[in-house]
Amino acid sequence: MTRIGFAYNQKPELPALRLEDGAEDARPDEEPPSSSEPEWASAPAGGVAAASVDDEFAEWDSAETINAVEHALSALGEVLRLEANADFPERLRATQPDIVYNIAEGMGGVNREAHVPAICEFYGIPYSGSDPFSLSLCLDKARTKEYLAYHGVPTAPFALIRNAAEIPAMLDRLTTRRTKSGSTRLRLPLFVKPVHEGSSKGITEDNYCRTVAEAQTQTAFLLERYAQPVLVEEYLPGREFTCAVMGNGDGAHVLPIVGMNFEALPPGALPVYGFEAKWLWDDPSHPLEIFECPARIDEALRSRIEEVVLSAYQVLGCRDWSRIDVRLDAAGVPNVVEVNPLPGILPRPEDNSCFPKAARAAGLSYDELIQRSLRFAAERQGVALSGKAARRVRRAAALG
Ligand SMILES: Nc1ncnc2c1ncn2[C@@H]1O[C@H](COP(=O)(O)OP(=O)(O)O)[C@@H](O)[C@H]1O
Ligand SMILES: [Mg+2]
Repeated sequence: MTRIGFAYNQKPELPALRLEDGAEDARPDEEPPSSSEPEWASAPAGGVAAASVDDEFAEWDSAETINAVEHALSALGEVLRLEANADFPERLRATQPDIVYNIAEGMGGVNREAHVPAICEFYGIPYSGSDPFSLSLCLDKARTKEYLAYHGVPTAPFALIRNAAEIPAMLDRLTTRRTKSGSTRLRLPLFVKPVHEGSSKGITEDNYCRTVAEAQTQTAFLLERYAQPVLVEEYLPGREFTCAVMGNGDGAHVLPIVGMNFEALPPGALPVYGFEAKWLWDDPSHPLEIFECPARIDEALRSRIEEVVLSAYQVLGCRDWSRIDVRLDAAGVPNVVEVNPLPGILPRPEDNSCFPKAARAAGLSYDELIQRSLRFAAERQGVALSGKAARRVRRAAALG
């Protein structure tokens, strides 16, 4: 029987997301903005929503997700739970699994997602997903964009602000046609975000900046609140998609594309998939009908998006699976927004998790999706899987 070590970080049960100012709900029953005037057009920059919600554990997985993944893996071998906390290295070493299935987001630091894979490499234990370098790279949205830009993969022009003292330099960049480094100026409006976060942490409507003054205020706020550099990008005004990619090398392929239907957001909301849309306005009891999968797009756009997404996947060294966010620029060109080599995989359809949604549209159940991702990792590293589903999964692979 194959011994599958399962590495994860589990969200504290209570409260996963709590309001700092006295509310008791773990998942606040927030009223969406109802004003007919665009809220984001009149709201002062300053991050009210981000400041009032503690999103510290937003990236970690719930007990429900962990149980669902464990259930799926158990068809391919014996699953050994290895919570990725402080004594993970000792437990991994003592357990010596044949392969580690990794969904651990990490405990902290800018290389947090790389820790589990790096420890596996240290002990010579095969593991699923991207390597430590790619995981760290993709968690740094600015370096990711440098890679993409170097390889000619479209991504919005940007600048990185490391500390408050650098904010005036951004002004310079905005007003000067050419900077010393030779890059072209950024055009308003801008979108600013923390450079190392995921799961919509630090992404609110206030991050949309129509003026340099707004960008200055919000950049200063994000620097202070998230204690990390802030990425300042040109705002991509077009449609948004997210693409689930699976496989390796020439076999990498895009599952049915998920399109964002921003009409589903409360009236006047900014058309972005930020913290409000992901965690406040979307509730399993009232799912936000924001996704359409497959996205209703013509063949030409679909193949252009797939081409951009697969180039990003290869350039960044992604393995087994990843989810890649894309938005169209003013000219309709798909631009890569960010790459998630550890995609969100909430099991219940009501949870609106995009990778499982794309898998369902491709005819794959949740279990099959998880098993398939492990199979790609096992094949790559010559690890044999056992169990009933292993044979079925192998047969499906043979059929393509
Ligand atoms: N340059 C941009 N232009 C327009 N919208 C953006 C831009 N960058 C991010 N967004 C919006 O913010 C959302 C979250 O940003 P993203 O970088 O994907 O963060 P996360 O890691 O939290 O998913 C995106 O899905 C998109 O709607
Ligand atoms: Mg994203």
